[in-house]
Amino acid sequence: MSLSDVGIEALAVALPRRYLPIEALARLRGVEPAKLTVGLGAREMAVPDPGEDSVALAATAVQRLLATSGLDPARVGLLAVGTESGVDSAKPVASFVQGLVGLPREARVFDVQHACYGGTAALLAASEWIASGAADGRVAIVVAADVARYGARTAGEPTQGAGAVAMLVSERPEVLALDLGVSGAFATDVHDFWRPVGRREPLVDGHYSIQCYLDAVAGASRGWRARAERRGLVTKGAPASAQLARLAYHVPFCKMARKAHLHVRRTELEDRLGRPLDADELAAEDAAGAASFERQVVPSLELPARIGNTYTAALYFGLTSLVRQGGPALGGQRVGLFSYGSGCASEMYSGVVGARASEVVARAGIDDLLAAREPLDGEGYERILALGAGEPLDEAPAPGAFRFRGVVDDKRTYARA
Ligand code: COA
Repeated sequence: MSLSDVGIEALAVALPRRYLPIEALARLRGVEPAKLTVGLGAREMAVPDPGEDSVALAATAVQRLLATSGLDPARVGLLAVGTESGVDSAKPVASFVQGLVGLPREARVFDVQHACYGGTAALLAASEWIASGAADGRVAIVVAADVARYGARTAGEPTQGAGAVAMLVSERPEVLALDLGVSGAFATDVHDFWRPVGRREPLVDGHYSIQCYLDAVAGASRGWRARAERRGLVTKGAPASAQLARLAYHVPFCKMARKAHLHVRRTELEDRLGRPLDADELAAEDAAGAASFERQVVPSLELPARIGNTYTAALYFGLTSLVRQGGPALGGQRVGLFSYGSGCASEMYSGVVGARASEVVARAGIDDLLAAREPLDGEGYERILALGAGEPLDEAPAPGAFRFRGVVDDKRTYARA
């Protein structure tokens, strides 16, 4: 049983047209491929050209959501976009999307920026808006959309990607009913990853960012666990994370989910014991943790491994993967989600997968979108990487997609297929 009748009713995604197999990047940079495939858990990396910016990706995902869910746009009372790769310091991505897709003028329209956590902040705010009654029967659309770009030849380069997930949030949570009020937040003021205004690529202290993420997942999971125990969602007798059918973690790169899951388990064990694990206990936990990661978390990595980092959208590609991989058998089961945004803010929350979730998610046509992508070689990747932010490739949008087509009279313009 879920704690609310509010959550995700349907979702749709947008992906860049091209991707780079990760071995091609390893060859290009003279790096041992296993460092990227095994060390980071990467397989393919979406490579957007400047025509596929956060607005184009978000608008494409929303357009597909309207088409596949049959939603009457007039019912949308709130549109929130979580992004950290917006295209303007004042005008939100959400306003572009509202105009491009034709959402009501009476809607509350805004962006949420907090690094990779912005999509989760938007989703929880929209869900609480509906649960509070303020929605007055209307629904919300929440979009997580980002272009994750690092500099060429930097440590972050293999962890790029781009994409958007648009979610219809309503009182018919056919994909995921949220356990509203059962979440753990954890935030600190750190410089692990930041992007001063005007810079195209972020500054990042990569290894420190991993430590900040681990501190955050420990803090947030403690908060979620305490509330889940108090509300009777999990019993105190057994580790709380083990009582979840699956978990999806924010994935800047797939291996991070493994580190996070093992850290959550170890935190739980040590909190229960009131002391650090000894050598024997650590050895036993190594084996148990690895098995639990395979069963509970690996299903969430299907799409992140094919797309790469998508900042705000990464967790929601993870959730989409869980539903796709779990099939109808996952219906009715509780899953956990952990969102992390550098800077930092994070939150762990849970929800119950709907009985028809896999059928609803299948409408997003993700297999077709993946199959339609074009692989790049190293040279093609370098050509796209060298394009200026205002220099989209001169090509028509893919069917059903929007593209940025340049700046005219100081204003960004978009084309639709
Ligand atoms: N075969 C298998 N594994 C290998 C390998 C090889 N030939 N060579 C290295 N590895 C492993 C390393 O042991 C390491 O694994 P571990 O983390 O489990 O110890 C992993 O590959 C990465 O190697 P490392 O040397 O740490 O990589 P790096 O210094 O180039 O940077 C990041 C890795 C993640 C810090 C970097 O990609 C980055 O800055 N990313 C952007 C920021 C980010 O994503 N932060 C995450 C939190 S938000």
